[in-house]
Amino acid sequence: MPVGFILDLDGVITDTAEYHFRAWKKLADEEGIPFTREDNEALRGVSRRESLRRLLKGREIDEATAEAWMERKNATYRALLAEMTERDLLPGARAFLESARAAGIKIGLASASRNAPDVIRSLGIGPLFDVLGDGYSVVRSKPAPDLFVWVAGGLGLPVTSCVVFEDAEAGVEAALSAGMACVGIGPVERVGRASLVCEGLHAITVAQAAALVTDPYREAAAD
Ligand code: BG6
Ligand code: MG
Repeated sequence: MPVGFILDLDGVITDTAEYHFRAWKKLADEEGIPFTREDNEALRGVSRRESLRRLLKGREIDEATAEAWMERKNATYRALLAEMTERDLLPGARAFLESARAAGIKIGLASASRNAPDVIRSLGIGPLFDVLGDGYSVVRSKPAPDLFVWVAGGLGLPVTSCVVFEDAEAGVEAALSAGMACVGIGPVERVGRASLVCEGLHAITVAQAAALVTDPYREAAAD
């Protein structure tokens, strides 16, 4: 049975959360808006615009200002990305992707980030993917299921053949609404709704993940 793995980028393949934090923090400091590392957790996995909305915590700004602020944040973020190399891959990421490919599994990326293609290039893992879905691919971003469904379509697979790998609550919710099995990466308080939870791609085998869609007894065992 054909299987597809659809991976989120930030927090699954590489850890850009710190770069996003520093870029938003610079903007927030310049504009006198309180913003902490804890606040940054709420921005995990959501789009740039939704991130700004959450950072503002109800403060109102006009559209032109919002555009200008997002542009400023992105310029800072991209300057930080310029330093990124293959060393920024999270533990086990390359080995996991290579094993999946060797097993004949199709691989897609589903990232809310508009910078995702550049990040993938800096990490040197472009050839390991069959389809790249990014922040431009669909209109409704996570927690809507659209991006995962779009990537599954690109892989030529039904949603029931795909396993998603996600570190964000919004991403797990999106995968489940898409009707896909999901490996949650991170603490159960954040990704506990996923079909299986682990610490990272170094902590799960390709066979364990693929079994989420190929094991005919999975549903029965869960009852
Ligand atoms: C997601 C990150 O991958 O991309 C979010 O987890 C980020 O924190 C979002 O806001 C959008 O990224 P970008 O690069 O388009 O601003
Ligand atoms: Mg993520």
